[in-house]
Amino acid sequence: MTQIIAALSLKGGVGKTSVVLGLAGSAAERGLRVLVIDLDPQANATASLDPTRTPYTTSDVLFDGRAGVASDAIVPSGWDSLIQLIPSERALEHRATPDGVDSSQRLRRALSGVTENFDLVLIDCPPSLGELTRNALYAATDALVVTEPSFFAVNGAEQALEAVSIVSTHGNSGLRPIGIVANRVRPTLPEHNYRMDELRSAFGELVLSGLPDRAAIQQAQGACVPVQRWTSNGAADINAALGRLLDELRPMTRHFEGTQAQARPSLASARLAQGARS
Ligand SMILES: Nc1ncnc2c1ncn2[C@@H]1O[C@H](COP(=O)(O)OP(=O)(O)OP(=O)(O)O)[C@@H](O)[C@H]1O
Ligand SMILES: [Mg+2]
Repeated sequence: MTQIIAALSLKGGVGKTSVVLGLAGSAAERGLRVLVIDLDPQANATASLDPTRTPYTTSDVLFDGRAGVASDAIVPSGWDSLIQLIPSERALEHRATPDGVDSSQRLRRALSGVTENFDLVLIDCPPSLGELTRNALYAATDALVVTEPSFFAVNGAEQALEAVSIVSTHGNSGLRPIGIVANRVRPTLPEHNYRMDELRSAFGELVLSGLPDRAAIQQAQGACVPVQRWTSNGAADINAALGRLLDELRPMTRHFEGTQAQARPSLASARLAQGARS
């Protein structure tokens, strides 16, 4: 059963995309087959993973929603043959509004029979706990809360964990909060140490290895390469931290309501029905 990790946060700009990209690069270095699902209309993960073509996106996948249809939207990343991607686009914004009783389960259904082809699936969520993030949580086995060591960290993490708890008690009993990762930590700052202590006293062992604040992350993202391929002292620090984080997140065996491979519908028919893209 494939581990599906959704990276989420209430607050924007805390590092969800960077954590997803960093973990993808780290996992590929270990020979794991990785699928990144970009569920953010900002499409930052898509831009950085630099696919050569994006015939379909998560917007098409959610619009269609039929079992297994996500397979059609998978494209190779520009990074590594082990990393594949379901890209995003701005139009995904329109899918953020609930349009039916099962609208939060569209991604889960569309992924059925698809994730089995990967060792690790990482979902990059938008900065909200709305419909798109709920779709990620219904599809995931693990929820990874991303935060920064700031005054808002405890409150933001609490709200994210509450959203996880609601989904795990209402429909996805295979979902668990795998942990909270603090990003952009600067241990030389007393304020950051204070906030890290605050997080640990609020959430105990749920607080995972933090990631340091290193410009290499921004440099590698700007160059559309994995930070694992960046050469600087900062890159080495961040890569070591990403490796530790990946160790904490894997390996784990758990039960997920496995879905049977089925005759797969195609996205092309849905695109025809949808007409011109909004
Ligand atoms: N550990 C880090 N060290 C230095 N810069 C970082 C680090 N993590 C993220 N950044 C930078 O911070 C900015 C925000 O990060 P990122 O885009 O990953 O956040 P996000 O939570 O995905 O944002 P959004 O909520 O808008 O999707 C980016 O410019 C990124 O390069
Ligand atoms: Mg992001």
